[in-house]
Amino acid sequence: MKREKIIRPKPFKIDSPVIFEGDSLHILTRIPSESVQCVVTSPPYWGLRDYGVVGQIGLETSLHQFINKLVAIFSEVKRVLKPDGILWLNIGDGYTSGNRGYRAPDKKNPARAMSIRPDTPEGLKPKDLLGIPWRLAFALQDDGWYLRSDIVWNKPNAMPESVKDRPIRSHEYLFMLTKSEKYYYNHEVVKEQGANGKLRSRRSVWDINTQAFPGAHFATFPPSLIEPCVLASTRQGDFVLDPFFGSGTVGVVCQIHDRPYVGIELHSEYVAMAAERLRVLHDNIIRIAI
Ligand SMILES: C[S@@+](CC[C@H](N)C(=O)[O-])C[C@H]1O[C@@H](n2cnc3c(N)ncnc32)[C@H](O)[C@@H]1O
Repeated sequence: MKREKIIRPKPFKIDSPVIFEGDSLHILTRIPSESVQCVVTSPPYWGLRDYGVVGQIGLETSLHQFINKLVAIFSEVKRVLKPDGILWLNIGDGYTSGNRGYRAPDKKNPARAMSIRPDTPEGLKPKDLLGIPWRLAFALQDDGWYLRSDIVWNKPNAMPESVKDRPIRSHEYLFMLTKSEKYYYNHEVVKEQGANGKLRSRRSVWDINTQAFPGAHFATFPPSLIEPCVLASTRQGDFVLDPFFGSGTVGVVCQIHDRPYVGIELHSEYVAMAAERLRVLHDNIIRIAI
């Protein structure tokens, strides 16, 4: 009987800062196990933005599919993370559409216009808060992650909303998840100033203004949200991964603090934006077709 030879793609060598252009899951499978110390990332929100590129996450027809896809990606992230590493995961929430089938174009933010809006998920009602961050956190816990902290990112400059029947949403969650019970966390370097002016251990509510990055049609990280994550969970020279790199803010913070980064981003326009911010030569971007 003739045996077919299966050729598996070679794993990438991770020995200097790198940007990959392509699909996260696909690229992650080629990153060597236990090669990064920390992951800081913000996946696309569900049903909010159409980035206009094949393979993008966030347009799944059901919430269940969206969560399952992210769990599969973060399972690969777990393999790639060192045993004492930390994942910092920011994910936004939203409301059910109330069965409106579209979102009108937003002049200030063209990426918010969508041709389809997901139906109200089974079991939820119009106007229900989706609760995506906690649904994802529990799913990741079920998949073996240790959920160590739910940090409330309070946004003092949050955008006003026109709603009159509930408080304006002005926070997001940043989950701290680990691969093991014991891990590297340097609490000394991320102390904060208490009301009496003295330094104290960092609390779980962080007041950080949002910051738009010119040209990006999506929510970019404010660098001061990423800084404490990188500083507390890495030493100089440790690799930091962002599998949804966008405009490359994680890379910018890494460059400042002398940590090499691994960025993965599907959209070529955003890869170009990140490369320019990080002064990466185009020859040093690795493009991987799906
Ligand atoms: C919320 S944005 C990340 C923004 C980033 N934190 C920053 O500071 O610029 C999410 C990013 O995920 C990218 N993305 C969507 N689906 C993807 C996929 N399958 N693989 C890799 N990136 C993807 C989008 O293009 C978008 O840039």
